[in-house]
Amino acid sequence: MSKVVIVFDAVIWLCFWRPLAHSRQMILLCRTLLLSLLAFFLLPVSSQGESTNEALAHATAAIATAAPRAQADPARPVFHVTAPAQWINDPNGPIYYKGFYHLFYQLHPFSDESGPKYWGHVRSRDLVKWEPLPIALWPSSDAGEAEVWSGCCTINGQGEPMIFYTSIAAGKSAQTHAEQWAAIGDDNLIKWRKSPANPVLTESLHGGKKIYDWRDPFIFRYKHRTFMVTGGNLNQAKGGQAVVNIYEAENAGLTQWRYRGVLFNHPDSTVRTAECPNFFQLGDKWVLLVSPYGKVQYFAGDFDAETCRFQAHTRGLLDGGPNFYAPNTMQISDGRRLVWGWVNGFPAGHGWNGCLSLPRLLTLSPDGQLRQNPAPELRKLRGKPLEWRNIRLEDGGQTLMLPRSNALEVSADIELKTAEGIALAFKGQTNDGRSLVVHFNGRDLKIGDAEASLALTKGERKLSLRIFIDHSVLEVFANETVCATRVISQQDANAGLEIRAQGGSANVRLLQAWPMKTIW
Ligand code: FRU
Repeated sequence: MSKVVIVFDAVIWLCFWRPLAHSRQMILLCRTLLLSLLAFFLLPVSSQGESTNEALAHATAAIATAAPRAQADPARPVFHVTAPAQWINDPNGPIYYKGFYHLFYQLHPFSDESGPKYWGHVRSRDLVKWEPLPIALWPSSDAGEAEVWSGCCTINGQGEPMIFYTSIAAGKSAQTHAEQWAAIGDDNLIKWRKSPANPVLTESLHGGKKIYDWRDPFIFRYKHRTFMVTGGNLNQAKGGQAVVNIYEAENAGLTQWRYRGVLFNHPDSTVRTAECPNFFQLGDKWVLLVSPYGKVQYFAGDFDAETCRFQAHTRGLLDGGPNFYAPNTMQISDGRRLVWGWVNGFPAGHGWNGCLSLPRLLTLSPDGQLRQNPAPELRKLRGKPLEWRNIRLEDGGQTLMLPRSNALEVSADIELKTAEGIALAFKGQTNDGRSLVVHFNGRDLKIGDAEASLALTKGERKLSLRIFIDHSVLEVFANETVCATRVISQQDANAGLEIRAQGGSANVRLLQAWPMKTIW
């Protein structure tokens, strides 16, 4: 079997190696043909007791088999990161390293529904064009591992790339049994081997304290010290005792850690646990993100590195829509902080399921509110614009014809003047008169049945919208403060946009619409 694995490895490399490919179609065709062939030979390999290379071959073949159907699905987004096929959830280990932005993600390679998790991988030179890479991590069944859950990627004090992730053992419940493991990467972050120091963090670090749902390591540095936070709760997710834990590294190789206690006790009695904590500095404040089995929350405040406690002063939601979860952040070389979330809620049965949100740039306002903007690099995906200026609306509407594409960005600067509200309805010509409506009533932004409160600045009645429609994904950014992500039914490529002022007059100072290019 080892010979098969070597040949397989070589073919994977050829399939993913850019210089060999002359066009997108060629890459797709080559990959699909070669990997389908391999799938044919390798699928019969049993997953019972397989070696780690066989586990990788088996998973890669399953993805290749599912890819043609997934990639032909018209609802599949083209400018959001997806796996070549099958199920994905959380973004993992975002890192900028040696000229590439790397994103990993939770992947279930054997179906388009949730199942045992692996780590998928993509990278980009510019945050615009992305390149799919081989699966980065898979469960080491020979070491009793059944799943590799979410985590982070960092460079240790000896210059070695490391992934930290939550390891779930075969036959054990993730609620009561988890360990934090590490893997060491090559210089391209493509090939990973499990660290001989595993398990790097075990429950014994907590002394007598039991932490349930203990998972999702995230590493940050402060004044030459290295810290890790993990999520969990103290009462079996019964509610009211969600915690974020903090550890400090004791050696440069990051294989020895000391528990520094609870960084943050979640204040809400209904919150059952804190998943995927991210903790980082924005300006002179600290921001904590938690995914609480509900809408993702942020807290901003002060961190005392001596006591390892976080004091939150402000809080809010990262996304008001129903389909954004488990975000993960990256600090890039110029110090900016980007975030990606998991866009969930797609129907099963299409050979793919889930994508990552667009990268958002995070800043903090002077009063401690999180501001989010689409990463400026995304402008490079724009095609030829259509533009309208000063559309005056008097308690009525106007319809504009959008670029003929179902991958679009629409940006609108609107003065509400005397209008009580404004509605933007995307109307397809063939989708049975159903339209997608973004509605602002002066207090709340509503997108279908999702609602997020949006306060206008005193004395200012301005609404600035950036709306991204990518086949079946909608992301809305309003006044840099409110974001909403939702899964929508596949949009018509020939849509009109009806803008309507309600109860008064409004002026659309500038409206621009672009067809968007693919990121692949
Ligand atoms: C969040 C989450 C994480 C966990 C991962 C497993 O969506 O539940 O807490 O590590 O997904 O896929």
